Amino acid sequence: MSDDFQQNPPPFKVGILTISDSGSAGEREIDVSGNTISEMILSAGMEEITRDIIPDDKRTISEVLRLWSDGGEMDAILTTGGTGLGPRDVTPEATKSILDIEIPGIPEAMRMESMKKTSFAMLSRSVSGVRSGCLIINLPGSPKGVSECLEIILSTLPHSLEMIRGWRTH
Ligand code: MTE
Repeated sequence: MSDDFQQNPPPFKVGILTISDSGSAGEREIDVSGNTISEMILSAGMEEITRDIIPDDKRTISEVLRLWSDGGEMDAILTTGGTGLGPRDVTPEATKSILDIEIPGIPEAMRMESMKKTSFAMLSRSVSGVRSGCLIINLPGSPKGVSECLEIILSTLPHSLEMIRGWRTH
């Protein structure tokens, strides 16, 4: 490893996945929650390398998460939406189905801290874990939910991502 790499490691690369039936159908003009994630990770020194909006369909969600994490390019994938109690909210199930290991502490921390702001925080069933050396975290769908939850975990991400690199096979 070069000295330059050790002194100036490249920024962590992040994929942003918005999960929304209306967003994927083009019925919402701007992906505000995706933009919120993008701005927050950028200001934390990370790099957005991929973005997509897909419907609340379990098979589609798990397939995109599998392809993105197995592709080896991304250190982390942040999803937004589909974590609630509605019949179309299947992001947690889709995420769990492709994880190598689960990290319960991340969504636990988001729910616990968010409860200080809104008791509706308990309604997010978000999960987090690792697949192919890529950290996957579900965030709620609203821009407010995204910024409040990401704020809680943002400072722990670099250390988490360093540890997770040990899982990489590529
Ligand atoms: N967490 C925080 N910090 N702030 C919020 O406004 N909204 C809650 C919850 N978590 C919220 C939050 C609400 S109202 C819902 S229904 C759930 O996230 C799930 O949201 P989702 O279905 O859009 O993922």
